[in-house]
Amino acid sequence: MTDSRIPTARLGAGGPEVGVQGLGCMGMSFAYGPTDADASRATLERALELGVTLYDTADAYGAGENERFLSPFFKAHRDEVVVATKFALSIPPDDPTRRIIRNDAPYIREAVEASLRRLDLDVIDLYYMHRRDVNVPIEETVGVMADLVREGKVKQLGLSEVTGDELRAAQTVHPIAAVQSEWSLFSRDIEAGVVPAARELGVTLVPYSPLGRGFLTGSFTDAEQDLTDGDFRRQQPRFTGGNAAANAALLAPVRALAEAHGATLGQIALAWVQQRARIHDLPVVPIPGTRKPTRVEENTGATRIVLTETELSALEPIAEKVAGDRYADMTFTSAGRE
Ligand SMILES: NC(=O)c1ccc[n+]([C@@H]2O[C@H](COP(=O)([O-])OP(=O)(O)OC[C@H]3O[C@@H](n4cnc5c(N)ncnc54)[C@H](OP(=O)(O)O)[C@@H]3O)[C@@H](O)[C@H]2O)c1
Repeated sequence: MTDSRIPTARLGAGGPEVGVQGLGCMGMSFAYGPTDADASRATLERALELGVTLYDTADAYGAGENERFLSPFFKAHRDEVVVATKFALSIPPDDPTRRIIRNDAPYIREAVEASLRRLDLDVIDLYYMHRRDVNVPIEETVGVMADLVREGKVKQLGLSEVTGDELRAAQTVHPIAAVQSEWSLFSRDIEAGVVPAARELGVTLVPYSPLGRGFLTGSFTDAEQDLTDGDFRRQQPRFTGGNAAANAALLAPVRALAEAHGATLGQIALAWVQQRARIHDLPVVPIPGTRKPTRVEENTGATRIVLTETELSALEPIAEKVAGDRYADMTFTSAGRE
């Protein structure tokens, strides 16, 4: 257990300093099986004590439930936290495998009001477009988001799962503070396009699923056995069939480094993501998700681990060997538009 606060990083050019690791709050209401509200609340408080200030949610997480759940914590610590939420995605309650994506002006206007209501806040600190609807030009979507900044409903803008070209186009309309995309030892697609664009434009990278949805902690070998019925990962290619066993075998070098550092596998995975900041020369604020105070202590502890060049080289071959796509439906990501 540690009481030392984590370092900070800048959130977008001219933006606020935030703890260099944020907290993903999705699992507190959605996607990853049964939740314990008291443990989640204790996790939020412990994270804040440790210097975590960027808290990540979305209107889609539990159809608004996650925003509602987080509201009392945000209100109690309004001046200490940076509240990030998202619009664009909805999941029909009668068909939880479907995703509806909308980026048009009437939808965004309705979505922001609904998020403000559920959060019970006057302003959202960082408002992301969660997914791209290719039927709406990105300049038009960001134009509406920029209006929300002018109207005082939103402070900073972010984009999730965009390409480098989309980020450049968006930035011509309004400064983008952050891009949130999957980035981990298992998922490095963004290094080719969006990372160089973010560096060039002064945009902070917010890696989501930096623990590979928990896989990189070494906790999974068989999704059927390791995950409960309602867990979304039971449908994800990296957790299913022979892929889970093949991917578990890829963790050998992570395990070796964990032993060498007296650390956990998850801490090595997070230290690797954090060190992308130096390697790619841009601010990086990963948002590992957890609902347990001891894990937030463990995860923030990773900010103190520095991997040498030789150690980083040992981890280099992992990503290209990963079995299975990031999602069952990759049309749902930026991958097809790169
Ligand atoms: N923009 C997007 O499209 C998008 C997509 C996915 C996620 N996100 C955001 O990114 C956040 C993080 O991503 P994620 O939650 O998908 O994946 P993640 O952070 O890679 O992994 C979360 C999983 O790892 C477990 N875990 C966390 N710390 C651990 C530790 N120290 N030891 C063992 N297990 C540990 C968590 O379980 P417990 O909770 O039980 O600790 C949870 O099951 C989300 O909360 C969400 O806010 C955004």
